Amino acid sequence: MKVTIVGAGAVGASCAEYIAIKNFASEVVLLDIKEGVAEGKAMDLMQTASLNGFDTKITGSTSDYSKTADSDIAVVTSGIPRKPGMTREELIGINAGIVKDVVSSLIKHSPNVIVIVVSNPMDTMTYLTHKATGLPKNRIIGMGGALDSARFKYRLSEALECPASDVDGMVIGGHSDTGMVPLTRLAVRNSVPVSKFLSEERLNQVAEDTKVGGATLTKLLGTSAWYAPGAAVSGLVQAIACDQKKMFPCSALLEGEYGLNDICIGVPVILGKNGIEKIVEIELDEAEKAKLKESAEGVKKVNGLL
Ligand code: 2OP
Repeated sequence: MKVTIVGAGAVGASCAEYIAIKNFASEVVLLDIKEGVAEGKAMDLMQTASLNGFDTKITGSTSDYSKTADSDIAVVTSGIPRKPGMTREELIGINAGIVKDVVSSLIKHSPNVIVIVVSNPMDTMTYLTHKATGLPKNRIIGMGGALDSARFKYRLSEALECPASDVDGMVIGGHSDTGMVPLTRLAVRNSVPVSKFLSEERLNQVAEDTKVGGATLTKLLGTSAWYAPGAAVSGLVQAIACDQKKMFPCSALLEGEYGLNDICIGVPVILGKNGIEKIVEIELDEAEKAKLKESAEGVKKVNGLL
């Protein structure tokens, strides 16, 4: 199983590390345009192999896509991250051109690749990847909801004063500070609805804190987060590589599902060896449907800037 990660910045390198430690991939290729960065981070990571007990071979390349040839999965993290006070959508001017070039170069060397898009604004970059490559829609996946759901579970565990492993919850909709839809109604603490433990007001606060989870960290760090994004991507890669048939909220091209068309936006999907094996249509209440519709309108507005 060969995985390419384009962009050896903090997110890409963290993703490479998590994939290696999970030890399911034979090879990870890190690629960056900055001379030596991918090679250096790959070598540094390989020097943890005996410490972290993995056999995955991690190599680095500066802009040489021939080294990515015959990749099974490719993760696109390239582009600039946002700065404090910026929205993800403001990155489109620079990142759209980068992502278009990257995905075209990737599929030239790996025509059967499954692409996971991370670069922001992620839903629009995922949509752009469909338009630029014409790959089958099951082989293009946007990573946002898996990260947002992890942040949702963090906030729930904080409010419930319990381990994050005791809660489950999902965020659908656009990966944007205003467009996310944390499904508080469906969240559970060990199968018990969280509404049994938390007031509506407290749950609304959890939802609002989740929506700005990325911006909160960007304010603290001066740049976008990387540990949770990298970990979230590694979970999607593993589900595909190991044909796990696991369900994640991912940005997927909708053609009528949830009443939406010609848009990539976060919905529950089953991930396996074919990428998106199935889009899962769950029952939403009227308020959730309205929020998803509003979120889709926001994503389409950004798509219009392409
Ligand atoms: C985040 O929310 C980078 O969009 C990513 O942290």
